[in-house]
Amino acid sequence: MNFAPALIQALRSARHIAVLTGAGVSAESGLPTFRDVQTGLWSQFRPEDLATPEAFQRNPKLVWDWYAWRRSLVERAQPNPGHLMLAEMERRVPQFTLITQNVDGLHQLAGSRNVIELHGNIRRYKCFDCQAPYALDDADWEAPPRCPHCGGLIRPDVVWFGESLPTQAYWAALEAAQGCDVFFSIGTSGRVEPAASLPRVARRARATVVTINPDVETHSESHSYAIHGKAGEVLPALVRAAWG
Ligand code: OAD
Repeated sequence: MNFAPALIQALRSARHIAVLTGAGVSAESGLPTFRDVQTGLWSQFRPEDLATPEAFQRNPKLVWDWYAWRRSLVERAQPNPGHLMLAEMERRVPQFTLITQNVDGLHQLAGSRNVIELHGNIRRYKCFDCQAPYALDDADWEAPPRCPHCGGLIRPDVVWFGESLPTQAYWAALEAAQGCDVFFSIGTSGRVEPAASLPRVARRARATVVTINPDVETHSESHSYAIHGKAGEVLPALVRAAWG
């Protein structure tokens, strides 16, 4: 795989690299994306039935079971070379920020340390009413359990459509996009705000912006690179080319 020499130079001299990831990074771990035409979750299910607060209020058991199914997929999944190479990149630069829209926790499992979870984590739970964190135990799998503090229903600690992102996570992501030298956008369709705006924020702050996705054609123009390919194939080659 050949990369533009200016991109390799930008990586070698970067003091802060920020990376935004989406479902495509976990596709090679066997987890479905959202918008793939054939296999994407949103091609089989309606988000308004499953991923909104109103859906949960209407039919908590349906939403609970769908997330329990997704959690069972996540628990069987292992990090792939894309995740592992992002953990490796973190060890090569003075400052590294990984901003993910994924809720699967695979970046942390791969060894990434500075991870900002914009959309929560499917392995965590909280109360729908009082937001108190809840530790699920084996006896809880059948139906949404009740909060021991307020009696509210327990829900997955993920961000649903119509909900705000966790404030601190969003501000940290924005700060990284504004302050980094190189910003990667990997495996995301860029269709969901505000995450979708982060590459533009980085570009305005004069960072080099790199997109990795099998859905783009490889091209480059002033400080902006698109690389066609899968994260698990492009990232190992890129890390090797930049750092040996
Ligand atoms: P999408 O399903 O919208 O986009 C996945 C992207 O990954 C597409 O652009 C694919 O071309 C690309 N892709 C597929 N396989 C890949 C691979 N092996 N390597 C690299 N890229 C690959 O998923 P997201 O952009 O993550 O939000 O979706 C954003 C948000 O929409 C999700 O976090 C979720 C969803 O609704 C909430 O649930 C709040």
